[in-house]
Amino acid sequence: MNVLVTGGTGYIGSHTCVSLLQAGHSVVIVDNLSNSSRETLEQIESITGEEVMFYENDVTDEKTMDEIFTHHSFDGVIHFAGFKAVGESVNLPSKYYRNNLLSTIVLADLCLKHNVEKFVFSSSATVYGENASPMVESMELLPTTNPYGETKAMSERILSDISKANPNFHVSLLRYFNPVGAHESGLIGESPNGIPNNLMPYVTQVAKGIREKLSVFGDDYDTVDGSGVRDYVHVMDLAEGHIAALEHLEEGVRVYNLGTGKGTSVLELVEAFEQVNQVPVPYDIVQRRPGDLATCFADASKAENELGWTAKRGIQDMCRDAWNYQSRSSQEALSENER
Ligand code: NAD
Ligand code: UD1
Repeated sequence: MNVLVTGGTGYIGSHTCVSLLQAGHSVVIVDNLSNSSRETLEQIESITGEEVMFYENDVTDEKTMDEIFTHHSFDGVIHFAGFKAVGESVNLPSKYYRNNLLSTIVLADLCLKHNVEKFVFSSSATVYGENASPMVESMELLPTTNPYGETKAMSERILSDISKANPNFHVSLLRYFNPVGAHESGLIGESPNGIPNNLMPYVTQVAKGIREKLSVFGDDYDTVDGSGVRDYVHVMDLAEGHIAALEHLEEGVRVYNLGTGKGTSVLELVEAFEQVNQVPVPYDIVQRRPGDLATCFADASKAENELGWTAKRGIQDMCRDAWNYQSRSSQEALSENER
């Protein structure tokens, strides 16, 4: 298939491009580089030995996107492009609604115009809100605590409605749990700007000495050891989930959890990281983070039954590959003031 990948130089997009190319598909990336860099393209090409067509372009710009759709004949679209910082979305809601919703609508309309039948969307487990785990696709979605989460729930509705009205437009909504890790080469991975919001990038930066200590947000939840429990999924497993979703997308709207089905606590993850990599990760226990759930993990059986996809890599692989990527990066320790 010839696949348009929006946000293809970003964290999950770049790993998915590697998997697509290795599965024999061709790839056209559109990314405005608002949260990624051109270097990633070279890394994708060096891992795969394949050339990638790249447009530095904003997906919300309908005119230029129309030209790209006219120039290429796409069999499918995987839409990763979007903003994803939960805290920022609370302070700058219109930035999130504009980018995340408009990009989805523009792309869906162009698919209809150019007869592109397959659309795979990056959703998030956040759409389950405060449902009890394991999260099952058939659950009623509950409000999320932030505009970012709302853009995911709204995008799911928008795409579902467009698909219902257009029987040749098939949609796969992929609800990611907690993507972590990096390609085993260490050439691509997750490199957030500024202070990481998410656990694994924070852990790797503490291990590297970039930050002094991890703050563990709460040890009084009703979980195995009191710290928060999440379903961490290796980014290469996630990438392979997209290929399975695209290849099985034949009609209507499909919704799949992409997770392992297993929960791991913050303290368990820190311990696994220290053991596998033989590096210390000092931490303090601090207050709970507002808006956090105690526990969130997937029922991963639907993706297994319908797509034949399961996550193959475990928490040790995730910790090893995340560290391999971070330890190769040139990012240095910060001074006392910068931390
Ligand atoms: P990322 O920021 O690394 O990648 C997103 C890419 O999209 C970036 O390269 C950015 O430059 C690009 N982009 C943003 N807006 C654009 C626009 N208007 N036009 C063109 N390019 C644009 O993020 P990621 O972690 O790879 O996430 C990919 C998708 O998966 C996002 O939609 C995110 O919300 C979703 N998601 C991520 C996670 C996670 O934990 N990383 C979890 C659930 C869902
Ligand atoms: C967060 C977002 C969620 C988003 C997801 C994407 C919030 C409230 N939720 O989810 O909307 O879809 O990222 O991956 O931001 N933790 C620490 N110390 C840290 C960082 C995290 O103890 O410095 C803990 C958290 O309390 C949580 C776990 O680690 O228990 C995982 O946190 P994180 O990586 O931020 O992911 P989520 O909270 O699941």
